[in-house]
Amino acid sequence: MTTITAGEIPTARGTMAWLESGAGWPLILLHAFPLNAAMWRPQLARVPDGWRFIAPHLRGFGTTPLGDQPPSMDTYAADVGALMDALSLDTAVIAGLSMGGYVAFAMYRAAPARLAGLVLADTRPQADTPDGRAGRAAMRELLARDGPRAVAAQMLPKLLSGGAGPALVELVRRMIESARPDGIDAAIVAMMARPDSTPDLGRISCATLVVAGDQDAITPPAEAQAMQAVISRSRLTLVEDGGHLANLEQPDAFSRILADFLLARL
Ligand code: MLT
Repeated sequence: MTTITAGEIPTARGTMAWLESGAGWPLILLHAFPLNAAMWRPQLARVPDGWRFIAPHLRGFGTTPLGDQPPSMDTYAADVGALMDALSLDTAVIAGLSMGGYVAFAMYRAAPARLAGLVLADTRPQADTPDGRAGRAAMRELLARDGPRAVAAQMLPKLLSGGAGPALVELVRRMIESARPDGIDAAIVAMMARPDSTPDLGRISCATLVVAGDQDAITPPAEAQAMQAVISRSRLTLVEDGGHLANLEQPDAFSRILADFLLARL
């Protein structure tokens, strides 16, 4: 049985907390909004031999403090780089799901040589559209008025497919409801301001897996296909009956797709 441990370390940029399992080549798993590293527990429990999976709580989520400066995607990316320094990891495969993918793009821009590979899960390279920004502004108001519970109620139908069971819906609801309101708000602002990563896609030279739930309502498979088509050393795999949080909804299939990609690279 795989043991999942929790870590916390002072870095050059503040304390970072994370979950990890396994030993060997490092893979860093970056979580979605407004969740935390615990969303990667199914993958941490299925770590392939020879790999070490590390899932940080991005600042303001889980047990990583928010800090005093408003974060941007570059801030989250620099925090992950500082965690890699603190753990003496020069390079790692970086995997991001949705907002985690936005952070992965920022890491690629900042230090492409540190990425030994890239996994883009249920994410998109584009910046927010004007409509998207208006929706985020409305979510900030909802959060200020009614708290994380209301955010969870609004987001849940889009995060999971209609086939998700009640236990999984509850798990995700509890994860969102337990998030710090100021951490959620800071991430909304950071996502609204994130740059367009589309021009970077053609420059990505590391082996890349694009993976998405075939029922993803937030970043539909067509977007994953379009993104994969312009990344040179990439492959695309769709997760059957998977919604936006495909790793939680189809943990076996998602973990197998991830392991196939990682083991093929060794
Ligand atoms: C996520 O799952 O991280 C969010 O759906 C990302 C977003 O709202 O753009």
